[in-house]
Amino acid sequence: MNTCFLKIVPALLFMTGCAGNGGSTDNNLPPYQNESLPLEERIEDALSRMTLEEKVAMLHAQSKFSSAGVPRLGIPEIWCTDGPHGIRPEVLWDEWNQAGWTNDSCTAFPALTCLAATWNPEMSALFGKSIGEEARYREKDVLLGPGVNIYRTPLNGRNFEYMGEDPYLSSRMVVPYIQQVQKNGVAACVKHFALNNQETNRQSVDVVVDDRALHEIYLPAFKAAVEQGGVWAVMGSYNKYKGQHCCHNQYLLNDILKRDWGFDGVVISDWGGVHDTKQAVENGLDMEFGSWTNGLTWGASNAYDNYYLAHPYLEMLKRGEADQATLDDKVRRVLRLNFRTAMNTHKPFGSLNSPEHLAAARRIAGEGMVLLKNDGKVLPLDPTAAKRLLVVGENAVRMMTVGGGSSSLKVRHECTPLEGILTAVGPECEVSFERGYVSDATDTYDGVKTGQDLSETRSAERLIADAVQAARSADAVIFIGGLNKNWGQDCESTDRASYGLPYGQDRVIEALAEVNPHLAVVLVSGNAVAMPWIDRVPAVLEAWFSGSETGNALADVLFGRVNPSGKLPFTFPVRLEENAAHAMGEFPGGDTVHYNEGIFVGYRWHDAKAIRPLFAFGHGLSYTTFEIGNVKADRTSLTANGTLRVTADVTNTGDRAGAEVVQLYIGDAESTLPRPVKELKGFEKVMLEPGQTRTVEFTVTPEALSYYDDTKHAWTAEPGRFTAYVGAASDDIRGQVDFTLE
Ligand code: GLC
Repeated sequence: MNTCFLKIVPALLFMTGCAGNGGSTDNNLPPYQNESLPLEERIEDALSRMTLEEKVAMLHAQSKFSSAGVPRLGIPEIWCTDGPHGIRPEVLWDEWNQAGWTNDSCTAFPALTCLAATWNPEMSALFGKSIGEEARYREKDVLLGPGVNIYRTPLNGRNFEYMGEDPYLSSRMVVPYIQQVQKNGVAACVKHFALNNQETNRQSVDVVVDDRALHEIYLPAFKAAVEQGGVWAVMGSYNKYKGQHCCHNQYLLNDILKRDWGFDGVVISDWGGVHDTKQAVENGLDMEFGSWTNGLTWGASNAYDNYYLAHPYLEMLKRGEADQATLDDKVRRVLRLNFRTAMNTHKPFGSLNSPEHLAAARRIAGEGMVLLKNDGKVLPLDPTAAKRLLVVGENAVRMMTVGGGSSSLKVRHECTPLEGILTAVGPECEVSFERGYVSDATDTYDGVKTGQDLSETRSAERLIADAVQAARSADAVIFIGGLNKNWGQDCESTDRASYGLPYGQDRVIEALAEVNPHLAVVLVSGNAVAMPWIDRVPAVLEAWFSGSETGNALADVLFGRVNPSGKLPFTFPVRLEENAAHAMGEFPGGDTVHYNEGIFVGYRWHDAKAIRPLFAFGHGLSYTTFEIGNVKADRTSLTANGTLRVTADVTNTGDRAGAEVVQLYIGDAESTLPRPVKELKGFEKVMLEPGQTRTVEFTVTPEALSYYDDTKHAWTAEPGRFTAYVGAASDDIRGQVDFTLE
């Protein structure tokens, strides 16, 4: 049975007058269809009309990405789609491979590390609006994203899908995305809840983490998604916590998510994340997807009636082994989701591949790219000056929108870095390309083919010699490398095997640096990497996985049309052992992984151990310069329910407009329990013309001073001395002011 038939059934019923069209404001419709009535009233009416079988059918998949509605009542099914940075191509009813439609190519937006690196909530709102419009146009009711799992190790294959190492940054950046997606009548589904910080053994690893780290590091972005973002769906993660799979976890789902945070939406399992009917029933799961699959490539076919929440649950109910109230709570949540999305007749039409979406992708990418180093102002390059410009590296030509796992996409067009550079330069600028290195190039995923022929016959030595030869006579060299979306790289269900650049790239970079000092290295990646050549390379730019408009956005930055303003959302350690998880020897663990570093993740670890990073959390340069000073507080002490204002002046001291991200960190000088030296508690991105000064203001509340006291199971702000640090990066503090909490 294919998809379109199931969409016709409710319409047929409507036309024959057997049932409403789902929802409208006509007062002679049954209440559940009358959108002028309160949502909860409509839910109770629908619930009262449903049979036991219809209720159970709503709680599990009927196909790879859809769940049943109630055709008899004209309640449509719910359709889900990946992923966090673009709408996945349509798959066949019960297949992982794509259906081969010709009208489902999408806009690939930048991966979420790039969005986080903009440090600009306005970009998050633009992202959510744009991707929500594409989901709506594709008639999808649940977008399986955004992902906000914390960056604990640079080896996690899926870090590119998430928003970095800091809970405050992730919290600020996830909320507008969710709000704007949902304005399209599409549910965001924040994932993967929770503690899914590695891909190794992802379906079974039991995470052991102390309550402080759980509440201070790993939960805040999800809490913000629920309490501030009003997210309509949450996806349980594959791994275990406290010995229970997170897709049916009493502590995370019933106690924290639904009871403490008041979540009124639906908990959706990850695909294949459900393992037990009784636990699924009692521990907070509402919709089961992808059972009997590995979530990516294989699975039992048409197993839907055997799902844990299908017949087994129905039989339990009929035997009186499961109570009606729990069933009805699940059904209410699914009906609420349905009325907000599929049955919502006021939702916009959406749009796909529009010029606006491509422009949004380009703008977000350009704002997210991070200028890590620029000695001697190698960048920006002048595209009009007569230039022999050499581009080296497979990532200059390789498509990155295909691959990487469930976030893989089929785009109408992907502008590669080389294409963007060629488009941007003037006629007097001669651009040449050298491969430099070869990866294990794959050209297809889920049946989506890149169409690229990246075959290569030359040896690694030959490739380097050819690149070096070309570099000798070039005025400037741009090496474009990094990682890619292959298994073992930045890719779901695998973690990276090592921290260094793969495919011998370090040798290529060193060889190029030998013969041409005008060298810029561009990294296309979603993770930190080692840079043993850093002292011999004057300019380094982190370009992330930037989607459909990668090349144009990169050219905008390389040639100075866009002044880079991105800041790192995670730390680049010099070597892997300087990362907390690796220093504490707990990655990837075995059946169990212990987060022994506790709250000391990322810069919190580097500060605590005084380890200088290669590039720090919050670091990012500009083509202009900024001064931050005059850091002041409006009072010297803060009462338990008061607020304190911290201000700082930021000035553009250079010769071109640019944006600086002023960051506020708070340190607790005297605390009963160990605390990080400082923690991000505020930031503001400020656009300034040359010579312009703006005063930035931060409001500090006792909440910003609090830590989670695991002996009291509550957040606590301890009276005593605190310091507000204001700077341009976690390792670039420009001023500080002390104050006390009464
Ligand atoms: C995958 C991923 C999840 C995705 C889902 C559907 O295995 O873990 O992020 O949304 O299954 O493809």
